[in-house]
Amino acid sequence: MAKATLIDGKAMAADLSAAITQTTADLATNNNLRPGLAVVIVGEDPASQVYVRNKKRSAESCGFYSVQRTLLADASQDEVLAVIDELNADPAIHGILVQLPLPKQLDTMVVTQSIVPEKDVDGFHFQNIGKLTSGNTASGFVPCTPAGCMLMIEKQLGNDLSGLNAVIIGRSNIVGKPMASLLLQSNATVTICHSRTKDLPAVARNADILVVAVGRPRMVKGDWIKPGAVVIDVGMNRIEVEVDGEKKNKLTGDVDFAEAVEVAGAITPVPGGVGPMTIAMLMSNTLQSAQRTID
Ligand code: GUN
Repeated sequence: MAKATLIDGKAMAADLSAAITQTTADLATNNNLRPGLAVVIVGEDPASQVYVRNKKRSAESCGFYSVQRTLLADASQDEVLAVIDELNADPAIHGILVQLPLPKQLDTMVVTQSIVPEKDVDGFHFQNIGKLTSGNTASGFVPCTPAGCMLMIEKQLGNDLSGLNAVIIGRSNIVGKPMASLLLQSNATVTICHSRTKDLPAVARNADILVVAVGRPRMVKGDWIKPGAVVIDVGMNRIEVEVDGEKKNKLTGDVDFAEAVEVAGAITPVPGGVGPMTIAMLMSNTLQSAQRTID
């Protein structure tokens, strides 16, 4: 059988960013308004630093006002909340994102819920979760990674997923659960799997749409995939590989790509799939937040 179509997240994200950049320029000309994004990072986790740098770079390239607030790894909860309060009150800021994971002394729930829902471009506030699960996405924010996955699924299958089985592996608040809400909203029949699921490969093989977000390199094998399925790999695992006797770091997904590409109908690569789309959706949410201030 022919190999799967590659879903090029990098190219899709570039198209989205171009449109966002144009709209941002129009907002400046017509409304004297510039979208503002604030990214808060606590500590020096190297992966988080890379993600935050990419978000800042992308915001600047779209023409946004971009702010980064960096706190020491031992920052107290009150210090973090004080920074968020300041950003909540700043009219130049339309989106606030606190990079996760946070150091142990901080309560992630309290910190994420302290961002006002109107600036919660990550979509983690309970008010935005409620809007998403009740189908009221127009006035809330959808978390960036599932929103990006959804655009890639729609590109392959269209907006109506009636009659299709969608299987999500992973039940996180950031990806698995919001992904299920979005797929359900588009009429898919949705199953969420996790570490306690019985015979995971058999459940996965039933999927016309398979979304994998577990954080285990190459866990999903070729024989877990229904021939022709659309496979969305959310995994971003750094693994060590040996190239010509030299140890190198490599970014690898949760899907065994070499096997899956022989069976799937379409698949996202890692890197160059979900990652760039997540950042593009963050820009899209921030622009939307700014636009809501003049609507
Ligand atoms: N860390 C990993 N994914 C995310 C995300 O979507 N948002 C934030 N804020 N932190 C993350």
